[in-house]
Amino acid sequence: MPQLAYVDGRMVPLRDAMIHVEDRGLQFADSLYEVCAILNGRLLDWPGHLARLRRGLAALFIDFPMSDAALGIVARRLLAVNGQREGLLYLQLTRGSARRDHGFPTTPSPSLIMTVRRFDFAQRVRQQATGVSVVTVNDMRWRRVDLKTTGLLANVLAKQDARAAGAFEAWLVAEDGTLREGSSTNAWIVKDGRLLTHPLSESILPGIARSALIDLARGAQIAVDERPFSLAEALAADEALLTSTTAPLLPVVRIDGQAIGTGTPGPVAARLAPLVWDEIERQTGWRA
Ligand code: PDD
Repeated sequence: MPQLAYVDGRMVPLRDAMIHVEDRGLQFADSLYEVCAILNGRLLDWPGHLARLRRGLAALFIDFPMSDAALGIVARRLLAVNGQREGLLYLQLTRGSARRDHGFPTTPSPSLIMTVRRFDFAQRVRQQATGVSVVTVNDMRWRRVDLKTTGLLANVLAKQDARAAGAFEAWLVAEDGTLREGSSTNAWIVKDGRLLTHPLSESILPGIARSALIDLARGAQIAVDERPFSLAEALAADEALLTSTTAPLLPVVRIDGQAIGTGTPGPVAARLAPLVWDEIERQTGWRA
């Protein structure tokens, strides 16, 4: 059975899944996307992903006719036809194809594509024992990175810098020294037992895993401050962490080669990790 993708109403073999050369997602990054975890054949935090997509559509004035219920049916059908029980669902919604012109087409016809692929979440549980390292780079992105658009070139270049340095992630630092987030993850530090993460604003993505961790931490009486912090504060922190759909919680033990705290995963990360995986199990039944 070949892998199937969803393209504008049809399930097609992945190798034949095509979008037009004049699609505005391709030509202008005039499109939004979501990446959602599939665990035990279920979608994690699906309502949160849908809400973020809807917010993006409204901000970009993309009028998309499918209901949330219909989107859910298509997504779950794609998991089912591919027999995908542990992996990632990728969803992209573009303003559609039209003769190239910066202004919106007069009668736009948005395109929706979805694909699934396998992803090994248990590796993330194992990585918790050692933690990961990050490097820092200048945040070169545009001013509305709260919108999950496919305009990811600055993120791509940042991730490549991380790869070249042998690091897991690149953390993006603003001109004023504020540490914003990672190229595809949200960033956290721990100081004196309190968790710190950048507040929601136009300069970070409102991560679904970020929001989940805030709720879980507060539920466990761990204080969370949503406030900007600098790279200098991060280097002097007791612990550091990152979160995303593809890494629900990972301790960061080195920033730019410098050890954070003891240079090993710390006690706050150790307290949070079981909360994160228990919540995933509660929603999906998945256990490493
Ligand atoms: N990345 N910040 C950025 C810039 C991101 O691209 C992502 C997600 C996150 C974390 O968001 P969430 O918790 O909703 O996954 C933060 C996805 C996974 C990606 O582009 O592959």
